[in-house]
Amino acid sequence: MTKPPYVTVVVPTFRERENIPLVVGRLDDLLGDFEWEVVFVDDDSDDGSADVLLDLSRRHPRVRAIRRIGRRGLASACLEGMASSSAEIFAVMDADLQHDETVLPKMIGAFREDPALDLAVGTRYTGGGGVSNWSKRRQFVSKFATLIEKSVLRTPLSDPMSGFFVLRRGLFEETVRHMTGKGFKILLDIVLSTGRELRTREFPYEFKARQHGESKLDVVVGLEYLYLLVDKTLGRLVPVSFVLYVLAGLSGLLLHLLILGVLYRGAGIPFVNAQISATVVAMVSNFLVNNAVTFRTRRLKGVLLAVGLTSYMAICALGAIVNVQSADYLFEHAIPWWFAGAAGALIGAVWNYAVSTQIVWTWLPSMLRKKKS
Ligand code: GDD
Ligand code: MN
Repeated sequence: MTKPPYVTVVVPTFRERENIPLVVGRLDDLLGDFEWEVVFVDDDSDDGSADVLLDLSRRHPRVRAIRRIGRRGLASACLEGMASSSAEIFAVMDADLQHDETVLPKMIGAFREDPALDLAVGTRYTGGGGVSNWSKRRQFVSKFATLIEKSVLRTPLSDPMSGFFVLRRGLFEETVRHMTGKGFKILLDIVLSTGRELRTREFPYEFKARQHGESKLDVVVGLEYLYLLVDKTLGRLVPVSFVLYVLAGLSGLLLHLLILGVLYRGAGIPFVNAQISATVVAMVSNFLVNNAVTFRTRRLKGVLLAVGLTSYMAICALGAIVNVQSADYLFEHAIPWWFAGAAGALIGAVWNYAVSTQIVWTWLPSMLRKKKS
């Protein structure tokens, strides 16, 4: 090969010894119009794939192989294949020839025709596409999963689980650091990881039966798929740290109400005094829980813990004043004691979250670190 490739076909392989030479043969027949190369990303298959790959890549200038030792995973294999390439366009295809490789030239050609095209997807569900001899169960699972995905996708795709697609380098560069990189659903990962709507084209094809080897789709793959969806939907709407902060706050609120109830209802202490005491205890508790859980990666220790707690209390004092004032106001206006107490605590919490995150767990540690160095 004299020119750099225009397109790299990335083929993830795990135990596909017999299929690998067939794939190279098919690409040879079909991709004559392009400067192309194929990179097989093999996860140290124990069926002799490595020898086949070594032999092929010595004889064939368009064949490369990446051997990953001690690693597994379809999506990450595809990503590493792309990362190893200098091409403008990346195609992803399975090694088992279940994807209809005769559609590939059209998919790649679409990128020449349309310079703004981001993604070309081989799809099983539109036009002439279909699935030959799939079990009823697998067809149902596939349709169901597709339905969930469609409801969370920005870019409408009729077959978002497709493992047969072509993308422009730019889309890879734009998304690779935001991707989960886990499991089977790399296309879905890409589409969910971009912040914009993509320019796509779909190419119907018939999903064929496997000739050699067996499928690697199993329960773990299913779990990884669920993780991907949760991470990309809930994880994007609310950061995990915020969820933790809210949970820590809720535990503080329970403690607050408990103390308020005991002091005001049980011991007959005046409401305002009971609310002040409950607030102080909840404050210390919130500080400790957040330090241990929410901000565990920048946990304050030793002197910093004492300084942190002091500043946290000082910051929260203002929030606490607002808290007690609002609670007292509500209480005076015949709102039930428990609601007045909780509402006051909540109003104070908004202030606490905003300011303490910035000062106690961000600014303070970095200030002290600077002093030391
Ligand atoms: N490197 C690597 N590591 N490759 C893997 C791994 C792995 O852990 N697991 C599977 N592969 C390779 C296989 O060797 C094959 O080339 C390709 O990934 C697809 O694996 P199959 O086991 O053939 O998957 P399938 O046929 O059940 O699933 C197909 O349909 C899905 C849609 O329902 C694939 O096309 C999927 O990509 C697609 O999402
Ligand atoms: Mn397959």
